[in-house]
Amino acid sequence: MRILLLGSGGRESALAWKIAQSPRVEQFFIAPGNPGTIFNGINVNIKPTDFEAVRRVALNNNIDMIVVGPEDPLVLGIADFLQADPATRHICVIGPSKAGAQLEGSKDFAKHFMMRHGIPTARYKSITADTLDEGLAFLDTLPAPYVLKADGLCAGKGVLIVPTLDEAKQELRHMLGGMFGQASATVVIEEFLSGIECSVFVLTDGEHYKVLPVAKDYKRIGEGDKGLNTGGMGSVSPVPFADDAFMEKVRTRIIEPTIGGLRAEGIDYKGFIFLGLINVGGDPMVIEYNVRMGDPETESVMLRIENDLVELLEGVRDGNLDTRELREDPRTAACVMLVSGGYPEAYEKLKPISGLDLAAAAGCTVFHAGTALKDGALVTNGGRVLAVCAYGNTKDEALARCYQAAGQVQFEGKYFRRDIGFDL
Ligand code: AMP
Ligand code: GLY
Repeated sequence: MRILLLGSGGRESALAWKIAQSPRVEQFFIAPGNPGTIFNGINVNIKPTDFEAVRRVALNNNIDMIVVGPEDPLVLGIADFLQADPATRHICVIGPSKAGAQLEGSKDFAKHFMMRHGIPTARYKSITADTLDEGLAFLDTLPAPYVLKADGLCAGKGVLIVPTLDEAKQELRHMLGGMFGQASATVVIEEFLSGIECSVFVLTDGEHYKVLPVAKDYKRIGEGDKGLNTGGMGSVSPVPFADDAFMEKVRTRIIEPTIGGLRAEGIDYKGFIFLGLINVGGDPMVIEYNVRMGDPETESVMLRIENDLVELLEGVRDGNLDTRELREDPRTAACVMLVSGGYPEAYEKLKPISGLDLAAAAGCTVFHAGTALKDGALVTNGGRVLAVCAYGNTKDEALARCYQAAGQVQFEGKYFRRDIGFDL
């Protein structure tokens, strides 16, 4: 098979690492990829949202399958675009149609979808400038704190959790007034749920599904989950509280009604579904859907898939995922992100990186996220720079390996959280 993977971050590095191990892959391209994915396949310098360029690269290289890493191309309709063209119709896209991608592209759509299909989620109301008064009245009925979500994509920044009613009302006005541009023209107000979160990844062919290893991510910059939100500071898999009883509830109350609901609504969905779940007293509730894998969960999850991922992707293509096997590695996998000093606020780039060989010698797998090559040397090129990952027989053992390597990789301003997995 000839595969093209779209994206360039830590998630795509981990997917590329796993895909490249498959004997079923004849040739493998990553667009645009990063300096780490050079070791897995051929990087092609195009933007995943430039559909004409994706089409050209796919046709020039006789691509059979496109795996879409990030959400933007899916929400913009890349699957529909390729499907509509007779020259690219035969290409299997791992990722939903534009209609399916609304599960992530519109929080209002996702909430309505969950209501239609009886999927457990926080109580909510969707508000626009025309219905502001209803929004203010709904806030009056809720206890603090208050959850306000921009309807559209905001690169992970569109959710506000506000401590007081007055502030919530003020922020609601700001959001509707264009705080996140068009993305917050509609705002979802939600009841606050309290519990511990986890990320459940489902691969589906539209009818059958496989549940990938469960992971937990750590989003805040500071230890103890304090400070600003980031693109993700680390992850661990498995998640002890996601035991058989909990996962049975996830399957029957969430995954099956989700896949069944998509089918009943005639929505074509072949790809990954990411369930952001919260455990409320032993019962899973949906915080959010994403229509792609998570970052930095993928870095841990790929380590824990023992068998060939491409064989599963072929099951998605052929609609017989039920006949394919998914074996989980019994060990724990952990991921610690090394980030640039100052991130997620202003930070400097182009700092030389050293010590990756030491990390590898210590038994770690290091995935590139924000790196670049400058005059042949590896330098930092983003906030989240490298994902240092390792196995262990226990969580502590996996993390100890990650931390040993995290200390050996060097670049000016390097920062990482030393408490990944602290709450598990
Ligand atoms: P989202 O972008 O929807 O994942 O929201 C970002 C983060 O806000 C989530 O990971 C949760 O930690 C938190 N959050 C979102 N919705 C709620 C809710 N209804 N109750 C409590 N926390 C929430
Ligand atoms: N780790 C959360 C996300 O990928 O959105």
